[in-house]
Amino acid sequence: MLFLEKKPLVKKILFVCLGNICRSPAAEAVFKDIVAKKGLAAKFEIDSAGTSGYHSGEPADVRMQQHAKKRGYTITSISRPFDPKYDFDHFDLILAMDDDNLHDLKEMTRNQEDVKKIHLMTDFSASGHHHHVPDPYYGGPQGFDFVLDLLEETGKGLFNYIENSTS
Ligand code: 4NP
Repeated sequence: MLFLEKKPLVKKILFVCLGNICRSPAAEAVFKDIVAKKGLAAKFEIDSAGTSGYHSGEPADVRMQQHAKKRGYTITSISRPFDPKYDFDHFDLILAMDDDNLHDLKEMTRNQEDVKKIHLMTDFSASGHHHHVPDPYYGGPQGFDFVLDLLEETGKGLFNYIENSTS
């Protein structure tokens, strides 16, 4: 008898900001938490990257880590630059935090397949009130909390979108 191995469908999601030390590592942690709470961690591969390599090899900004910790998220990612040759082929969805990130990613695309994978994170906002995830790096503590609020809202929207488009 022939047994065909049934491979689980794994969705591969990449979050992208400028430095990969504030917004996208937080997005990675928040989305991992959403998926884990649904019992679907094994069905997802979730990562983050920066359009720049300014902070390559560094852990997330301590302020972002501390604000995330207060909500129960542990940010473990280490900053790395977006790699067009690998990341466009490997990931199914690439989420940019703001219009600059979106523009920079689009500049690196090689074909329409690459272009179709890129979206703004705020496209998944249920409220539709916000059009980008603002960079908190040069601001005060409230900026980090606001980023986390937005990532929780848009993360849920992203999860619902994926669930509806794969079921
Ligand atoms: P991120 O924030 O893009 O959310 O990681 C920034 C981190 C570092 C810098 C800018 C934004 N920087 O200019 O070094």
